[in-house]
Amino acid sequence: MAAAFLAPAVARAGTSDIPALKDVFRDHFKIGMAVDPWVAVEPPARDILIKHASSITACEVMKPDPMGVAADIYSFGDADALVDFARSHGIAVRGHTLCWHKRASDWFFAGDPADAAYASRVQARLETYVVNVVSHFRGKVYAWDVVNEAAADSGADVGGGAYRDSRWHQVLGPDYIDIAFRAARAADPAVQLFLNDYGLEKPDKRQRFMTILDEKLKRGVPVDGVGHQLHLSIGSTTAADIEPALAAVEARGLVSHVTELDISVYGDPASCWDTPPAGCQPEILPGSAAYDAALKAQADMYRSLFDLFTAHKSVTSVTTWGVADDQTWLDAYPIMRKNYPLLFDAQGKPKPAFRAVADTTHPAE
Ligand code: XIL
Repeated sequence: MAAAFLAPAVARAGTSDIPALKDVFRDHFKIGMAVDPWVAVEPPARDILIKHASSITACEVMKPDPMGVAADIYSFGDADALVDFARSHGIAVRGHTLCWHKRASDWFFAGDPADAAYASRVQARLETYVVNVVSHFRGKVYAWDVVNEAAADSGADVGGGAYRDSRWHQVLGPDYIDIAFRAARAADPAVQLFLNDYGLEKPDKRQRFMTILDEKLKRGVPVDGVGHQLHLSIGSTTAADIEPALAAVEARGLVSHVTELDISVYGDPASCWDTPPAGCQPEILPGSAAYDAALKAQADMYRSLFDLFTAHKSVTSVTTWGVADDQTWLDAYPIMRKNYPLLFDAQGKPKPAFRAVADTTHPAE
């Protein structure tokens, strides 16, 4: 027990022969990984984070429902533990997320919507929450996803408009975004503030997102950058699909963070994400020919994406949504099925995708 505890981190993970990702990309962007505090302190995540990561995002514990327990009641313990772990290893922390259509607890919306003062009460609760949370982490978090997933998925939302028909939008209209960003800026003048979303590689979604962003910039809302989630799957997306989203951000003088990158090994049709899911691919098992082929295709895709990111100076942080394949949200989404979307396998060993990304001089094997 004691010997295992004292063994050098890299030797335990069996990865002492590989370069540290944070060093490989030091001149380009931070290398981030999303993790929960209880996962971060155990192998294999712990060793990988310490060696490779220059940024950590909380998968869960900085979302509004775990932190904002009730009006004026906060629970920062889990988030503080993750921040302490990161800081003790010289790793920066990205905050995720202050305002989202999901995970917004009912207490934000308590009261009678017919009451003339209802909207201003909801606004005050949002402002107070954002100010208190951002103040709590002032100087410890370098960037916040202030608003997550504000853009509509289809033109059907909000009368064909750009905004998602969220509870926030229903009560406060498009101003909820202004309110959240201005409160965050008031609480920490130095932290970078992001509008984070998915699907920006798709032209119609990108157009809705940029409509929102332009409205906010015109009004002087303090948006510093755009978060590109990039939950992808093999064959779904090319670097050429993503490039226009980075270019659109650059054209507005902002920076981009890749905030939630993972590449599912399943080439599912869109119907797999419907309720109920339809047409999802059957589970692939390690050791099978299908597994090896999927990992090869995944490596090629990771490589082309990192080539794109390094070609854009505006990309200042790249985070994978998870550390190693032992823990990934894609094991449960869109269906229960083991997935292998990250750079390290379930034992923490580097995958073909890692080698493709870390080897900056040769094409993917
Ligand atoms: C995911 C978490 O990883 C899961 O553990 C949780 O059950 C659902 O949320 N977009 C986001 C992230 O912005 O917060 C989501 O995280 C994944 C999709």
